[in-house]
Amino acid sequence: MRRKLAAGNWKMNGLRADLAMLETLRAAHEGCAVDLLICPPLPLVAAAAEACAGSAVAIGAQDCHPEDAGAHTGDTSAPMLADAGASAVILGHSERRADHGETSDLVRAKAQAAHAAGLVAIICVGESLEQREAQNTLDIIGGQLSASIPDTATGENTVVAYEPCWAIGTGLTPTSEQIGDVHDFIRARLERRFGAGGGRSIRLLYGGSVKGANAAEIFAVSNVDGALVGGASLKADDFSPIINALADEAKAS
Ligand code: PGA
Repeated sequence: MRRKLAAGNWKMNGLRADLAMLETLRAAHEGCAVDLLICPPLPLVAAAAEACAGSAVAIGAQDCHPEDAGAHTGDTSAPMLADAGASAVILGHSERRADHGETSDLVRAKAQAAHAAGLVAIICVGESLEQREAQNTLDIIGGQLSASIPDTATGENTVVAYEPCWAIGTGLTPTSEQIGDVHDFIRARLERRFGAGGGRSIRLLYGGSVKGANAAEIFAVSNVDGALVGGASLKADDFSPIINALADEAKAS
């Protein structure tokens, strides 16, 4: 049984004053039936982890360097994130692939570093609109999966997030059928590579314009174990309905 996960990606948003949202979130969802994770920008990770210590809300980061330490100005390593109180890290988000030219090989090296540091690697994959229109979605996703996920992946240390680039921050979402097709494909690929037990234990999140209004429909899709939420994770009032929809789905399934 995979435990469901609602993960918030704050991206480059949030100042210390915004950490107050975490208090609202933990108070509203203590004892919640699903796992909760917030990934704030790096300067807030340690304070967020302190604020959420002992609560249902875990804290993650949005990137790490593949090496543990060294001459890499401006970068942060996986052991540093763990030391700051993070338990997870988002890797290979399409904004990092696009803005920083991150390749799947680099994402895999980062995921290996995350695993070695005891962090859960949330590995993102997703097609562009052009790729979908050219009917290349599954080829693209398949290639990203094999190159981005390291052999060290298990259900405990890895989560895969399917985020179609064209759905991120746009208000557009794929149909339930489109989401189901990709999630079933990812599940089959994971089972082929890691065996039925291993492949079935890795959680699959959907991400891209998830809101309170569409969450229940998305969570009802097969092989959707939760969501990676950007914009709607910034305010407790927007994130809570998504968490509640996921908790309802967890109880029903
Ligand atoms: P969005 O972002 O929910 O704002 O579309 C999702 C993401 O990029 O993780």
